[in-house]
Amino acid sequence: MSELSVDHLLGIKYLKKEDIDLIFQTADHFKEVINRPIKKVPSLRDITIANLFFENSTRTRLSFELAEKRLSADVVNFSAASSSVKKGETLIDTVNNILSMKVDMVVMRHPNPGAGIFLSKHVGASIINAGDGAHEHPTQALLDSYSIREKLGEVTGKKVVIVGDILHSRVALSNILALKLQGAQVKVCGPYTLLPKHIKSLGVEVEPNLRKALQWCDVANMLRVQNERMEINYFPSTREYVQLFGLNKQLLDSLDKKIVIMHPGPINRGVEITSDVADSDQAIILDQVQNGVAVRMAVIYLLASKIKQQ
Ligand code: NCD
Repeated sequence: MSELSVDHLLGIKYLKKEDIDLIFQTADHFKEVINRPIKKVPSLRDITIANLFFENSTRTRLSFELAEKRLSADVVNFSAASSSVKKGETLIDTVNNILSMKVDMVVMRHPNPGAGIFLSKHVGASIINAGDGAHEHPTQALLDSYSIREKLGEVTGKKVVIVGDILHSRVALSNILALKLQGAQVKVCGPYTLLPKHIKSLGVEVEPNLRKALQWCDVANMLRVQNERMEINYFPSTREYVQLFGLNKQLLDSLDKKIVIMHPGPINRGVEITSDVADSDQAIILDQVQNGVAVRMAVIYLLASKIKQQ
């Protein structure tokens, strides 16, 4: 396959395994580029990209911006806090105004699930979903799988446990879909209140005991409790959560193998993982961040080549 099967990146659920393979091959090339003294290629000199962030972000936003700049695209940034959205403008009006300035691609983070899908049906630009509420975060899942592939050689057949707030996490859903598509085995571990009711229909198993889950896996992806998406208490106290689902060095060292530790960030040190785990040589958290730029360059480059053909 030499081009993506999709015109937008709205979610992993719209991708084929071949799309992921193509994104990873392309990312391999860009990873080599960003490690050169001159980290830039002229590929997208004729493309303009708008980054629209209606929800907070540090690393995803910087990562997209860096990826765009390293491809030589023109970049405009917009954040909801400082925009006319606060004056009551609709999403489509906001985006159409931006597009009338001849923008080719929109990278959007939005608190509403499905916001990117909605936009893709109403505006004539290529849309990349940078996180839509508790729904999907496809580039995060791609960079996570890419990091597993880099560390362990391949994703197929690997055992991955996703720990924490599965219910509210877009990283969890996109990761499950991406890992299953590539033939990994996936378990989830967390308080029952934070597991979606129909989780097993995604082909994953539930392992409520963290030690057993860790003993089983090759990779543990430790997710943050999404307090900002909770209107009620899902567990009695943070202390109890830490006792049952927090990963500390003692637990990690007591396993009879060396597993790989991942985290999408931002980390709550001392909650989902302790500092000594986050900073240990088993953690690939900063590799994930570095790979994020190469993977996003690949996604943007591949979607832009489809725009250029039109
Ligand atoms: C994640 C997000 O925003 O969904 N962070 C990220 O994109 N790096 C995970 C989180 O906020 O916990």
